[in-house]
Amino acid sequence: MTRWLVTGAAGMLGRDLTDLLRLRGAEFTALARADLDIADARAVTAAVSSVKPDIVVNCAAWTAVDAAEEHEAQALAVNGRGAGNLAAACANAGALLVHPSTDYVFDGHAAIPYPEDAPTGPAGAYGRGKLAGEQAVRAALPGASYIVRTAWLYGAHGKNFVKTMLRLAANGTAPGVVADQHGQPTWTADVAEQVLALLEKSAPPGVYHATSSGQTTWFGFAEEIFRLYHSSVARDEDAERKRVAPRPISTAEYPTPAQRPAYSVLGHDAWRAAGIEPIGDWRDALHRAFPAILAQASG
Ligand SMILES: NC(=O)c1ccc[n+]([C@@H]2O[C@H](COP(=O)([O-])OP(=O)(O)OC[C@H]3O[C@@H](n4cnc5c(N)ncnc54)[C@H](OP(=O)(O)O)[C@@H]3O)[C@@H](O)[C@H]2O)c1
Repeated sequence: MTRWLVTGAAGMLGRDLTDLLRLRGAEFTALARADLDIADARAVTAAVSSVKPDIVVNCAAWTAVDAAEEHEAQALAVNGRGAGNLAAACANAGALLVHPSTDYVFDGHAAIPYPEDAPTGPAGAYGRGKLAGEQAVRAALPGASYIVRTAWLYGAHGKNFVKTMLRLAANGTAPGVVADQHGQPTWTADVAEQVLALLEKSAPPGVYHATSSGQTTWFGFAEEIFRLYHSSVARDEDAERKRVAPRPISTAEYPTPAQRPAYSVLGHDAWRAAGIEPIGDWRDALHRAFPAILAQASG
């Protein structure tokens, strides 16, 4: 039986991936940050030698995009060298590596979806670190790695945009939400399914874009979350009083330390070439994910 090793297993994607592996009856070892720091090369070698995995999925990452601007060296130690440590250990052990990456490796100035082989050009420290990780993985495992870029992730576990909007909707607070950044809101459970599909279909190694189909803005995404929230709560007097909607604002009205890409839509041709359906429409994914996230957020 195929043996899996998941790093960063307590993160948002790590939780959904290990839930799916459990559901499928797979044999896997889940290591959270407290069990394995991927920036520690010796610990990574020891973990891979002891687990003897066939497949490693690296869900560990420094994901604090704004903090990375001030702490680029620390972000790079995890997202660049940490990925390289895992890749080297996989190369020694003959294991495949699935390495999630990000839309932030692109410059964000395109007007049509970025193909998998589009030139990279990160605008910030987080993207530079993640790109260094991609390069390290590809260099060590050219024929035995999958770079799985994703974006705008949300899920039942961990902090994310959907949970923030649900909290505001429940309080009756109408947020200003950026309406001039375009992307693909993506459910972590869908990314987990795509990772399994790569292995089940023996897809060729390379770069894949695990994002929802279609596109929207953060404002469009927020509108749909508020709509779903309002249709799922009882229509009593209190709910009616608190019924608000987000309002559109510009990026200039919401300054952040790290520059956000204006256009972060990723193309999906590599899935089709490998005989795998890309993730479906973002709105449909949100509707499927919503009950579990609402239960978590209000629990
Ligand atoms: N979230 C997004 O919107 C988004 C967008 C594009 C791409 N991605 C990529 O998708 C992947 C999964 O992201 P996510 O949203 O699941 O992130 P997450 O919820 O922040 O999970 C990352 C996990 O990695 C752990 N970690 C941090 N440093 C580590 C280290 N040195 N060694 C081992 N574990 C470490 C974190 O632990 P602590 O919590 O204890 O620090 C956390 O449990 C990442 O590769 C990320 O770059 C995410």
